[in-house]
Order: sequence, then structure tokens, then C-alpha cells
Amino acid sequence: MIGSAGARRIGITGLGVNVPERVLTNDDLAQIVDTSDEWIVERTGIRERRIARDDEALTDVALPAARAALAEAALAPADVDLLICATVTPDMMFPTSSALLADTLGMPRAAAYDLLAGCTGFVYAIAQAYGMLASGLAHRALVVGGDVLSKILDWEDRSTLVLFGDGAGAVVMEPVQRGGFLGFELGADGGGGDHLRLPGSGSRRFDDPEGLVKMNGREVFKFATRVMVSSAAAVLEQCDKTMDEVDVYVPHQANKRIIDYAAGKLGVDSERTVVNVDRFGNTSSGSIPLALADARADGRLHDGSLVLMTGMGAGLTWGSALLEWTDATAAAGR
Ligand code: UT7
Repeated sequence: MIGSAGARRIGITGLGVNVPERVLTNDDLAQIVDTSDEWIVERTGIRERRIARDDEALTDVALPAARAALAEAALAPADVDLLICATVTPDMMFPTSSALLADTLGMPRAAAYDLLAGCTGFVYAIAQAYGMLASGLAHRALVVGGDVLSKILDWEDRSTLVLFGDGAGAVVMEPVQRGGFLGFELGADGGGGDHLRLPGSGSRRFDDPEGLVKMNGREVFKFATRVMVSSAAAVLEQCDKTMDEVDVYVPHQANKRIIDYAAGKLGVDSERTVVNVDRFGNTSSGSIPLALADARADGRLHDGSLVLMTGMGAGLTWGSALLEWTDATAAAGR
């Protein structure tokens, strides 16, 4: 699916993030499985990640991010009429985490649902919110992207354990007077789905019903390097923009090698590329909002900055969004 934005401008007016307090370093992991800081840094660029406590579920991690996004947008929760939560690690299948969050935040009029698109979940969710807002079906949306993958990892499998971390981000989306989303490209290839799967997590019976992540890392790596480039190129072309015009490139934070490959192919230098995989690992649906927040904290996001986000993950799925950044509520004109 690909499309450029219509006449109605929809942008981000609030951004919030949150990660669990507990830091797990590569040396900590080397006490658990046969690995080393050297191997992990060389092959992935990851140095540490955050891990939720036993009693912390997805909504516990996501809630402070959602509150921060709403506060920044200066929006009363009751004014939000759409909440989408992108996650593969909801508190439980139902009630949905989005319904739980809407209730805790105080959004009695919000339609709320969870969205499942692997690590691409956040990009899918902002595209969905865009569609609802641009059509006028919804007026103010809260989009949450977050995961606590530590809960579904096999803590004996070094090939997956070292890659992931927990974290969440949230954005408020609404009509803006300038800037906003320019276009999206989304795709899925279930034919490659077997390379990254969670057997036993749904209605199909498996011989191995533990419900833990299984991954063919090499195949996912090949897929990732392909789609991170093709999806970004497609959305740029659709929106009549070039990579030279992009001010901030926000790739999914899965592996520094994948980011470097994609940035090299796309011709974007390191100054414009956001990297925080070293501090958080792959936080799945939390990855892109966490990276956006870091870009802003570093003073890289300004009114009018052209931002390119590209994600990929289980499904297999991929997606890109092109956005002209707007400075919070000034742009909403409320
Ligand atoms: O959002 C999408 C999520 N998934 C991804 O992004 C994953 C994409 N794939 C990758 O990032 C890489 O494929 C990995 C980081 C998972 C693996 O890196 P690689 O360079 O493709 O390594 P490899 O799978 O080819 O394994 C090389 C060796 C193997 O040993 P042998 O067979 O050569 O003796 C592995 O057993 O490294 C071994 N290995 C490890 N050694 C130390 C695998 N994991 C580890 C580890 N520590 N944690």
C-alpha cells in the first residue's frame, strides 16, 4: 500500500516515551547465555537494553509515555476519540491494551484497538490514525507503540535474547495548520513469516507450545536490508522528495549493521541518521518513537524538518512514513 497525503494536514502534536528502569548490559547477558560483549557489539551495535520487572506489563510501560504525549499536546484525554496501541506483547489478548489504556487515561469517547504488525506496528498505526483523521472519522488520536519482548523471549537462546529490549512511545496526532504527514508505504510478506514467529501464541496448535520467539536471524537480516531501502525509496518517490531533502532519518532500531547498510544504500550520512540501538536494543513497536524522541532531545527536530521513518519486522512486514515535523500545539492552532 502506498499513498501521499491529501489536502488535509495531519501531524504529530505530542510525543512521549518511557522505558523500564532496569538496565541489562551485554556482560549481564554473558552470565546467562554463552555470549560476550564483544560479539554483541560487533554483530549488532547493542551495548545495553531495558528490561521490565516481573510485575510490569505492556500498559505499565506505555502509560507514562501516553501521559507525556498528551501533556505535550496540551490535550485533555477526554478529547481523544481514537487510541491505537501497536504491540505484539499486550497485557493479554483481551481486554485489549488499548482499551485498558483508554480507561486508565480517561477517554470515554475513544475507539480503542490493538494493532499487530510486528516491529512495524508503530508505522502501521500512524498510517491508520492518519487515514481516520484525514477522513474526518476521528479528530484526535493517541497512537501508542510499545513492547515488552523480554516476556516472550527464550532466555536460553542467545541468538534472540541479546537483540531485544523493552520500551514504549506514544504520539498525539491531529489536524495541523502546517507540515504534517506527506505519505506512507506499507507492505507484508506472510511467505517469509516463518523466519520470525511466536508459535503457540494463537489458535494454531504447535508441537512446541511454549510461546517463545523463534527467529532465523540470517533470513530476517536479508529481508531487512532489502525492505529498509525499497520502502524508504518508494515513499520518497511517491511524495516527490529525494533523500537529500530528508533532515532526519529514523530507521527501526534492530541492528546497527542493518541501519548502516540501509543508510549507505539510501545515501544518508550519519549526522542525519538516528541511532539508539546501542542503549535500548530492538524495542519492536517502541523503537521508532524512542528514536524520534532521541532525535528531538539532541536538537535535531525542528519546525519544518523532513523526517523519514522506516520499520520492518515480524509478518514479515515493513513500512515507511514521511513527515514534515511541526512544533507541537502552535501548529494545531487550538
Ligand atoms: O525487527 C526484526 C528483528 N530481527 C532482526 O532484526 C534480526 C536480523 N538478524 C540479525 O541481526 C543477525 O542475523 C544476528 C545479529 C541475529 C546474527 O548475526 P549474524 O552475523 O547473522 O550471525 P550468524 O547468525 O551468522 O551466527 C554466526 C555465529 C554462529 O556460530 P557458528 O555457527 O558460526 O559457530 C552463531 O551460533 O554466531 C553465533 N551466535 C552467537 N555467538 C555469541 C549467535 N548468537 C550469538 C551470541 N553470542 N549472542
